[in-house]
Amino acid sequence: MKAILSGLTTAALILHAHSIPAPAIIESRAAEACGYPVIPLYVAVSGSITDRLYTTDASEAERALESGVYSHQSVLVYIYSNTTGPDVPDAVPFYRLWSSTKTDHYVTASWDEVESAVTTNGYEYQGVVGYTYADTSAETGCPGTVALHRAFNPDIEAHYYTTNATAAENALSQGYFDQGIAAYVFPA
Ligand SMILES: *[C@@H]1O[C@H](CO)[C@@H](O)[C@H](O)[C@H]1NC(C)=O
Ligand SMILES: *[C@@H]1O[C@H](CO)[C@@H](O)[C@H](O)[C@H]1NC(C)=O
Repeated sequence: MKAILSGLTTAALILHAHSIPAPAIIESRAAEACGYPVIPLYVAVSGSITDRLYTTDASEAERALESGVYSHQSVLVYIYSNTTGPDVPDAVPFYRLWSSTKTDHYVTASWDEVESAVTTNGYEYQGVVGYTYADTSAETGCPGTVALHRAFNPDIEAHYYTTNATAAENALSQGYFDQGIAAYVFPA
């Protein structure tokens, strides 16, 4: 009886462990575009350090929330991964930068910009988050991409990305400067 009970207790503990709610990471949907898999580009948002962290690594987004520094996250857009992206015709790397003094992450498809951010602007290069397009669907032949608008607020040293043209427009009346189209991506 004791053995059975302890067996049940163990089973209950395992069940309990499995029922602990996972951190609030939005499920990634299986998806592909033009024959290649696409993955979520998450954005984790911090009010306390006025930063938005862009990552395709769900566990990095999870850790950001668990740290308490970042308060919420969502899927910003879908992009190709940094492993399958190199095979996709016309797709280009999306590089990530970080400055701990500005507490600012941002992403760019321009390697020239990475170099100048690192050499003259105090940013650290953090790798390739994934692959996007530098050109429209009409130019690449892969349908369904939308413009990812980019804006920067120098007062709080924060970048902002959105596929919503109205939201991009609204940011401009809240201290942000238009920085054009960062890339063409798949909407969330
Ligand atoms: C590729 O992306 C993953 C996250 O999806 C990241 O952990 C890894 O560092 C990236 N690799 C390179 C070479 O940037
Ligand atoms: C776009 O942004 C505007 C302003 O924030 C908002 O009212 C609208 O609902 C957004 N549209 C979509 C499709 O999310």
